[in-house]
Amino acid sequence: MIEIEKAEGVYMYGHEGQRYLDLISGIGVSNIGHRHPRVLQAIHHQLDKYLHLMVYGEFVQAPQAQLAHALSKTLPARLNNTYLLNSGTEAVEGALKLAKRYTGRTELISCFNAYHGSTQGALSMNGSESFKNAFRPLLPDVRHIRYNVTEDLAHITERTAAVLIETVQGEGGVRVPEKEYLQQLRARCTQTGTLLILDEIQCGFGRTGTFWAFEQFEIEPDILLCAKGMGGGMPIGAFIAPQEVMAAFKTDPILGHCTTFGGHPVSCAASLATLQVIQEENLLAEVPQKAALFRELLVHPRIREIRNCGLMMAVEFESFEVLKAVIDQAILNGVLTDWFLFCDNSMRIAPPLVITEAQIREACAVILSAIDAAVGS
Ligand SMILES: Cc1ncc(COP(=O)(O)O)c(C=O)c1O
Repeated sequence: MIEIEKAEGVYMYGHEGQRYLDLISGIGVSNIGHRHPRVLQAIHHQLDKYLHLMVYGEFVQAPQAQLAHALSKTLPARLNNTYLLNSGTEAVEGALKLAKRYTGRTELISCFNAYHGSTQGALSMNGSESFKNAFRPLLPDVRHIRYNVTEDLAHITERTAAVLIETVQGEGGVRVPEKEYLQQLRARCTQTGTLLILDEIQCGFGRTGTFWAFEQFEIEPDILLCAKGMGGGMPIGAFIAPQEVMAAFKTDPILGHCTTFGGHPVSCAASLATLQVIQEENLLAEVPQKAALFRELLVHPRIREIRNCGLMMAVEFESFEVLKAVIDQAILNGVLTDWFLFCDNSMRIAPPLVITEAQIREACAVILSAIDAAVGS
């Protein structure tokens, strides 16, 4: 077990001075690098003003309002109402409740191999039985369809309140859907009056090369979820919906969804700074070349396949045993990688977007020599 003393940019430092190049960003969190100066500055500035004041929504708090405003400018006009929370799984919970309340329906659909979080509603939507069975009974009226399989869209009917789906599946091992599939899913939801909830908790805030992954598929969700990378290292999450949909939380009962710490002002200040860094440092434009460089360099007889959407990447090996040996060897040589919850033969590569070409070359050289050392060619 490594003890980390400090983290900065793309590096983490152990307490004995070891340096690790971070290729996983705390699982899609440190998209602009660890301790980005703009984020630290925003946090300090907010610390000097106020911390928690009151449960979310009672007072106007500028960091929340400014963040919601900035988010809406990145989104289609319909997605104009942001509900701020503390984490991804909370965003899932809020969105599922909202969909049930707005449509008056109970059936919820998600995909096999999906990961949406660990609280009971989100867990119910996860697509792996082995992770759920010990915790049953979970939410009733939940069904799963196959990801990226058009014929399963027929299971979405007038009974379905919502389909919850990752725009790009993360823990399934970076599965990038066909554009036509997501467009047909969008059409089927519209046809049946079902709300389409896009979970961009892992791919949001730029990881895939566009600010939101759904932009690449030319669709719009009814509810959008984000967390992880939106906070620049601080805990925050959100679900975003049209005002007319969000209004369902206002009556019968009032306060349909509450949170004490959701939208914490320090997290909101950090999130706004993160959003501005991504836009002003032009980080998105560089994602395709950086991803292409990884693909170009990571060539080895033991690598079976590379899947990616921008800098959300999976490098597939023949088995977990091979992958684990490579990961362990790479850590010894100063490069941090990982596997996926539901895809244990693939290496997770999701570096901070600020990674440089030289650092990518350094990381890939370490991975290739780790493969040679651990399993040979
Ligand atoms: C796609 C997706 N949805 C939801 C979650 C849950 O987010 P959190 O861990 O912040 O609760 C995760 C976390 O890994 C995720 O990857």
